Amino acid sequence: MPLTVKLSSSSVLDSSAEVIAVGVTEAALEKQKALVALDEALHEQLFVHAGRAKFTGAVGQVLDIPTWGHLPAARLVLVGMGKIKGSPDLAALRTLAAAASRQALSAASLALALPEKASGLEQLRAVGEGLGLGAYRFTKYLTGKRRPESELAEVEVCRSGKHTPAEAKALQTGVAVAASVALARDAVNEPPNELTPEGLAELARDIAKRGKLKLKVLDKKGIAAANMKLHYAVGQGSTNEPRFIHLTYQPSKPRAKLVFVGKGLTFDSGGLCIKPAQGMGEMKSDMGGAAAVLALMDAVAALKPGVEVHGIVGAAENMPDGNAYRPGDVFGSLDGKTVEIINTDAEGRLVLADALAYARQLEPDLIVDAATLTGACLVALGKNCSAYYVEDDKTAKRFEAAAAQAGEQFWRMPLLEELREQLKSDVADLKHTGERYGGSISAALFLQEFVGDTPWIHCDVAGPVLAERPRGIYPKGGTGHPVLTFISFVESFG
Ligand code: BES
Ligand code: MN
Ligand code: ZN
Repeated sequence: MPLTVKLSSSSVLDSSAEVIAVGVTEAALEKQKALVALDEALHEQLFVHAGRAKFTGAVGQVLDIPTWGHLPAARLVLVGMGKIKGSPDLAALRTLAAAASRQALSAASLALALPEKASGLEQLRAVGEGLGLGAYRFTKYLTGKRRPESELAEVEVCRSGKHTPAEAKALQTGVAVAASVALARDAVNEPPNELTPEGLAELARDIAKRGKLKLKVLDKKGIAAANMKLHYAVGQGSTNEPRFIHLTYQPSKPRAKLVFVGKGLTFDSGGLCIKPAQGMGEMKSDMGGAAAVLALMDAVAALKPGVEVHGIVGAAENMPDGNAYRPGDVFGSLDGKTVEIINTDAEGRLVLADALAYARQLEPDLIVDAATLTGACLVALGKNCSAYYVEDDKTAKRFEAAAAQAGEQFWRMPLLEELREQLKSDVADLKHTGERYGGSISAALFLQEFVGDTPWIHCDVAGPVLAERPRGIYPKGGTGHPVLTFISFVESFG
C-alpha cells in the first residue's frame, strides 16, 4: 500500500492518528514548548518517565510510550535529534521523520509534529523523504505468519497556520524521492538468483517506461560487437549473461551534461580466484552502485532538473566455470588499452573500465561512478562511509555539499600518483591490480586510465550500500546509499 502523507494545521495533541511523534533536541526537556504541552496533557507524567528512562534527546534515542487515554492518539513517540542550535538542517529533519515512521511502521497512522523554524519548501521535502524512507520494509519473500499484519498507510505532518499548495507539493516530492531510493534498496535486497544482469535491465526498462527516458540495452552479443572486451570477459563465466544499460534524461536547454556509471555485479563469487564461503552471500550487493544509478534516473525523471543526465550500468555475474576468464589472460578494451588479468576477483574495475570509456564518448561535463569496488575501502573508512576521488577541488566541494545535504558520509581520498607504477605489466599496457596496501587507491588509478581528460568523480561505496543494522535514514539490508547524494549533486547544477 502506498504511503499517504498530508499537511495538517492541527496540533498532534488533537490528532486522531494512532501514533504521534515529536522531535526532541538534546537540551533541557522542560524548555521545549511542544514537550511542556504534552507533559501537561499526560498529567505531568512525561518528564517523570523520560527522566527514569534516561531519555535526553540524544541522536538515535527513541522513547515510545502509551498515552493512557489522556490523548486521542494511543502512543507517543519522542525522537532524539541531538544538540541542535537554531533550526535543524535538512539531514536532521529527514532523520527525524525516518525515525518516526520506522517507529510507527506497524501502526495504521502517524502524526508528526513539524519542528519550529522548519517549514520551508526544502524542509518539507526532506520530511517527506524521511517519512517514506523510514516506512521501508523488504517483505517480498515472506509468507504466512512472517508477513507483517499491518503497515503504515497515513501520515499527517502537523504545523499550525495555513498551508500553500506549494508546501503540500514539496512534501509529496519528498515521498516520491523516497520511492526512488526504495528501488535501489529493493534491488540490493533481491537475491542473486532473482536479480540477474537481465533483471537489472528489466528494472531499467520499468524506470524508462514510467519516466519516459531513452533506453539502450546491449546483451552479450551486443557487448562483444561494441568492443567492450573487459566487460565481456568478466561475464563469460556465467550462464546469466551480461548486460550493458544506458538510460538518458534529456531536458530542453540543459545547463550541464552529467554521466553516472554504476558497477552492476549481481553476484561476485570472485570467479576462479574464488572468495571464501564466509560472507560470500553479501556479494549479492555488488550491484549497489548500479542500483543507485538506476534509482537516480528514476528520481531525475520525476524531479525534471535542467540538466542532461545519463545513467550507465555495466551488469554481469562473476562466476567460476569452464569458460570463465583466468589470471594471466590478456584482453583489449573499448578504450583500446590492453589489460593483463591478475586476480579474477578484481572484476568490478574491468566492467567499469569499458563503461567509463563509453561514458567519455558522450563528451559530458563530468562523469560520476559508484562501485562496491574494494574491501580495502572498508578497511580504510569502515562500513558507514564511502570514499570519493576527484582531482579538482571545486568539484570536490560541490560533491561534499551534496553529501552533507543528503546526510550521507563520504571522505575524499588521494589519487596518489606514485602508486600508478603498480599497474605496469610486462605483457600488456596495464595490470588490473596493484599491491594489497592502498588497494582502494590503486583501483581508482586503474579506472582513471579509462576516463582520459574528462572530469570525473569515483565513489567506492563498498561499505554503506548494505547495513547490518538500521542507522539514521538507513534500514538493515540495502540502504539506498548514495542515491540522495547523487540527486542533490545533480540538482546543484540546476
Ligand atoms: N566486490 C568486491 C569488493 C567488496 C568487498 C565489496 C567486500 C564489498 C565488501 C570486489 O570485486 C573485490 O572482490 N575486490 C577485491 C580486489 C582485490 C582482488 C584486488 C578485494 O577488495 O579484495
Ligand atoms: Mn570481486
Ligand atoms: Zn565485486
